Amino acid sequence: MLKGRHVIEPGNLSVQEIDEICALAEQMIVDPASFSDVCRGKILATLFFEPSTRTRLSFEAAMQHLGGSVLGFADANATSATKGETLADTIRVVSSYVDVIAMRNPKEGSAYLASKYSACPIINAGDGGHHHPTQTLTDLVTIRALKGGWEGHTVGFCGDLKFGRTVHSLTKALSRYPNNKFVLISPNELSIPDYIIDQVLRPAGIQYTTAERLEDVIGDLDILYMTRVQKERFFNEQDYIRLKDSYILDKEKMKMAKENMIVLHPLPRVNEIAPEVDDDPRAAYFKQVKYGMFARMALISKLTGAL
Ligand code: CP
Repeated sequence: MLKGRHVIEPGNLSVQEIDEICALAEQMIVDPASFSDVCRGKILATLFFEPSTRTRLSFEAAMQHLGGSVLGFADANATSATKGETLADTIRVVSSYVDVIAMRNPKEGSAYLASKYSACPIINAGDGGHHHPTQTLTDLVTIRALKGGWEGHTVGFCGDLKFGRTVHSLTKALSRYPNNKFVLISPNELSIPDYIIDQVLRPAGIQYTTAERLEDVIGDLDILYMTRVQKERFFNEQDYIRLKDSYILDKEKMKMAKENMIVLHPLPRVNEIAPEVDDDPRAAYFKQVKYGMFARMALISKLTGAL
């Protein structure tokens, strides 16, 4: 039963529940009109304390496609947070107006904190470098649509694996399915946190290797998950400038990849995928964006009890 639940990280959903949400998203992709009224009378709040294009707008589009309505903010400077109101009080107030809240906040743990004070479900739309579970639902819907399932893939995660919350959430989700192998491609300074290795990959018995050069491993991959080096997570601009162009996927590197490899990216991209790759049939990141809206439609329908 998903009605009324909070979704802070992928582990809050069982394998069966993830399957149920993704299967519903797949039905919505095929026949969106059949779901156009299921959230009539329900309200979603989008509380974005950090910038977003895809996540906020896809949540809002999702609720509108379900017949519900939306309120919220995209800039915390226009809220009483600037007067010193705590997150706890903001959530107590907003949750008395709406049926479900999607919140992004730069502080790790903020979504969990919000869930302690909320009278309605909290969906974590990204908490700092921690987790981004609806990006993971997006990625899972995309992988199942394009690769047929979630098992037996060699997945390369490339770029900022240290701060990349989408990587933390997707490694956690894919570790629950058999025979996946991970190739962790990053500069040493941006390697995946020890807690993901110790608490996620090792207990799940996931085989993983590390690499510093994408061209050394790209030929082994079924799925390449590119990520952006995130300027906003660095304390020191010099470090960002030194690391920002560590990886650039271009046509030359794509020639070394399997013919059926797919390239995913949560977006936004900066330099890490050259625009010349966009026309390659293996580039799936704009399809992924579209699937994200349906994944969020399915999740909203389940958490509000509409379906
Ligand atoms: N993928 C993602 O979270 O994009 P936005 O930052 O634009 O929401």
